Amino acid sequence: MSSTRHSDGVLTDQSRQLSLLVNSITDYAIYMLDPTGVIRTWNPGGQRIKGYSAADVVNTHFSRFYLPEEAAAGLPQRNLKVAAEEGRYIGEGWRLRQDGSVFRASIVIDPVWDNGQLVGFAKITRDITELYHAQEQLLQAQRDLLQAQKMEAIGKFTLGLAHDFNNLLTIISNCLDMIGAQVKEQPVSSLLATAQRAGDRGALLTRQLLTFGRGQTLVPESVDLATMLGDCEAMLRRSAGDGITLSIELPPGLPRLSVDKAQLEAAILNLVSNSRDALPRGGDIAITASARQARDPAHSERGLSGHVCITVADNGEGIPVDVQARVFEPFFTTKSVGKGSGLGLSQVFGFTSQSGGFTELESEVGKGTRVRLCFPLEEH
Ligand SMILES: Nc1ncnc2c1ncn2[C@@H]1O[C@H](COP(=O)(O)OP(=O)(O)OP(=O)(O)O)[C@@H](O)[C@H]1O
Ligand SMILES: [Mg+2]
Repeated sequence: MSSTRHSDGVLTDQSRQLSLLVNSITDYAIYMLDPTGVIRTWNPGGQRIKGYSAADVVNTHFSRFYLPEEAAAGLPQRNLKVAAEEGRYIGEGWRLRQDGSVFRASIVIDPVWDNGQLVGFAKITRDITELYHAQEQLLQAQRDLLQAQKMEAIGKFTLGLAHDFNNLLTIISNCLDMIGAQVKEQPVSSLLATAQRAGDRGALLTRQLLTFGRGQTLVPESVDLATMLGDCEAMLRRSAGDGITLSIELPPGLPRLSVDKAQLEAAILNLVSNSRDALPRGGDIAITASARQARDPAHSERGLSGHVCITVADNGEGIPVDVQARVFEPFFTTKSVGKGSGLGLSQVFGFTSQSGGFTELESEVGKGTRVRLCFPLEEH
């Protein structure tokens, strides 16, 4: 051992230097634990990061820094065990400060051996909260961008398809009309009527696809939301049905919107219908609105700007996370054949983005769903 090779003076000097070093480090909490996890030393970094002074923590168990549920689940002991058995524990997690706030910690635990005997642990903790949030934001921005690119690609594809089908349907419908004008005998005329009805349904479908692909001709007008919702309230209530409480609450003085009114009504009806389907045993649907500064997630470079946001929220079944990214795709439905065509949210998405706005979805299984349509304020 080095103590045999050095004079006492040198050793003292070395431990003094080491102690000086550890005590001058404020960016890292560096401290020693005994083999059971009781804190034996403390440094200014520990005080700066966690708020405790040495007197507060020395001789107490280090599990006090863990979240109560993780401490109760035995995580502190498990981490020491990993360090002792594998030679080191390296991890990341949420830890508590003295004031009860949490911070993201990067942690290294090294076992300290003396003659083959475990005498304690050296623990180094760094506060990486800011880095963690920056990384999270970056990941979220990447996810938003990917989602926007996916929707853009599906939109282009759908638009091309819808245009082609529209042209074909127009020819078929016109020909059926011309045949109908000349042939009045049965059974041909009733067969023609059936074919024309199918043609009309096809035309409706292509119109919905055009809306999703942002190929619909919108007719924006100045809309007062309170008046518009008042006008279609009875229809929305009918659509929600019995056993569901529908509330509409708007703040006074909401700015007017410049949007296609019929499309906005259709979008809100689609959202209310979805909420109703998610509430088979009844519940609440709330329509609210607010004027706020918002940022289009697909165009984060644009920054915050004034929007009017309309929210339809329910306390229904909710949508699993893996499904959330797909619900706006045309024909995506989880409903049985004949119950849903999967075009409701595509209309909502296509209409809001073609109107210069964006759609946000928040949902949690078992808790409910909240869809927010944000439209940019008219520029004056
Ligand atoms: N409020 C909601 N709660 C739970 N799930 C929802 C909600 N809104 C949408 N979804 C899910 O998203 C899917 C797609 O919704 P979308 O409105 O596009 O189609 P749909 O309702 O299935 O059919 P359509 O609206 O054409 O009749 C739904 O099938 C459902 O799984
Ligand atoms: Mg729907």
